[in-house]
Amino acid sequence: MPRSPAQTSWDRDTLPEGVEKRTAVQAMFDAISPRYDLVNRVMTFRLDTRWRRIAVDSLQLPPSSVVVDLASGTGDLCVDLAARGHRPISVDLSIGMLRNDRSGVPRVQADVLVLPFGDAAVDGVTCGFALRNLVDLDVFFLELARVLRPGGRIALLDVGIPANPLLRLGNAVYFGHIVPRIGALLSDGPAYRYLPRSVAYLPPPESLVSMLDGAGFDDVRHRRLTGGLTQMLEGTRRR
Ligand SMILES: C[S@@+](CC[C@H](N)C(=O)[O-])C[C@H]1O[C@@H](n2cnc3c(N)ncnc32)[C@H](O)[C@@H]1O
Repeated sequence: MPRSPAQTSWDRDTLPEGVEKRTAVQAMFDAISPRYDLVNRVMTFRLDTRWRRIAVDSLQLPPSSVVVDLASGTGDLCVDLAARGHRPISVDLSIGMLRNDRSGVPRVQADVLVLPFGDAAVDGVTCGFALRNLVDLDVFFLELARVLRPGGRIALLDVGIPANPLLRLGNAVYFGHIVPRIGALLSDGPAYRYLPRSVAYLPPPESLVSMLDGAGFDDVRHRRLTGGLTQMLEGTRRR
């Protein structure tokens, strides 16, 4: 069977970078979008819904705040933001993911490294499980600082590496061997083999914190959720 460019990239020993990575990421999420929610719920035992709610609560913004959810996928964070009385906007690169967004909030197709919003235009930013998919995190953090008003808040989630050795081993076995099988069964094998490998794109927590500080954020905090299975970064746009 012919292989898509995205599958070819993820199956190589080295992970792609730059434009090649962006093209492969977009093609991969277009391909897995119809069953993305199902696989997510199964592989995280629904813990993903809890992590998103923690992120929304950590914003501590008043109701009616304009919050852009970047790399929004099928809009789960937008649903939680709307439930808290915020005014979310969903932004994603993948048309497939945006088509499967059932949140009912305004949707925009854009690369989050070049946001279609003015300076200081929004009160908050969320981003769920997408940092490792981006080509340049420094550019991303500067773009967040540009679109947020002074005092605006961020909450960014991504997968983590647990500190506890037993949990770390269990997590590695689960994501390295079981999740790719679940993915192959329900959706797309290569895409879910990419998941454990893509963690290598993420800088360590202390680097992420110092990058955000350098981009213009105060009170930057790194939190480990559920023993470090997921990590969250929060911060306040410097005044
Ligand atoms: C793992 S999914 C996460 C979706 C959603 N945030 C969630 O919590 O389920 C990663 C998302 O990032 C999007 N994405 C990756 N690179 C992007 C970019 N440069 N600009 C916008 N979206 C991007 C993908 O299309 C995909 O929808």
